[in-house]
Amino acid sequence: MARERKGRVEGKMAFITGGAQGLGKASAIMLAREGAKVTLADINEKGAANVAAEINEECPGMAFAVGLDVTREDQWKHALAEANKAMGGINVLFNNAGIGGGTTVEETDFETFKKVQAVDVDSVFLGCKYAIPYMVPHAPGSIINTSSIAGLIAGHNMAAYNAAKAGVWLLSKSVALHCAKRGYRIRSNSIHPTFIDTPILDGMMLRGGMSKEELVRKLAKQVPLGIVGEPDDVAYCVLYLASDESKFITGAEIKIDGGISAM
Ligand SMILES: NC(=O)c1ccc[n+]([C@@H]2O[C@H](COP(=O)([O-])OP(=O)(O)OC[C@H]3O[C@@H](n4cnc5c(N)ncnc54)[C@H](O)[C@@H]3O)[C@@H](O)[C@H]2O)c1
Repeated sequence: MARERKGRVEGKMAFITGGAQGLGKASAIMLAREGAKVTLADINEKGAANVAAEINEECPGMAFAVGLDVTREDQWKHALAEANKAMGGINVLFNNAGIGGGTTVEETDFETFKKVQAVDVDSVFLGCKYAIPYMVPHAPGSIINTSSIAGLIAGHNMAAYNAAKAGVWLLSKSVALHCAKRGYRIRSNSIHPTFIDTPILDGMMLRGGMSKEELVRKLAKQVPLGIVGEPDDVAYCVLYLASDESKFITGAEIKIDGGISAM
């Protein structure tokens, strides 16, 4: 389908974790359509390569893929170096890879707790730490960290996820203040989606023993707008934050939640 392109991120070079599916994939497609080069980094390297190939069919030469386990410091160094070489620089970092971990403090075993922290928040620390030096020479730059509405509002059965996503929220602000103080011209913000229809819902489906339709209906009832979100609802926000249109926004949290947090 022919789409109108405005080049809102023309010349940007974006490193996207968790790009093999879901929100990372949708955002990568949107950024590439609007003129950015993108590197999809995922533990699912084949999935990331497939998404890059799909993007390159529509936007030739704009997408690259690299294997990355976001919990591994050594792999971050390698993946960023590869992306920097492939794209000719990096000035957008989308720390998006994440996993759920929905149960109560008593039912969560310590290994699971630590795994959720590693994938959801250690990853953001490592990404910011090692990407900033690549971003400085290509400023202005933008870091977008995926928290969740669960980073701002707790649930009785989300102990590990609440802890990790709340960490992402304030870590993003600390990074914003650090970059501003250093005069790097790199902004850092967190985004806070609520239920978005991506494969992450499959885990909830399995746990709840529900069909996809039942789950989506149940989740939608909790949202004032009465629907769950689509991946593009998040991708549009990522596009805005990646672009220079948002040049005065740093250290902010943007909720993409159909009104849940207004209640
Ligand atoms: N979909 C939602 O309802 C929702 C709501 C709020 C926040 N989020 C957050 O948005 C982000 C993306 O979620 P999604 O819905 O697209 O999920 P998803 O499960 O569809 O995709 C997550 C991607 O991350 C990758 N990944 C997982 N562990 C990894 C690791 N160790 N290293 C590298 N890659 C890894 C997976 O391979 C996958 O491609 C996550 O941080 C999630 O917590 C999602």
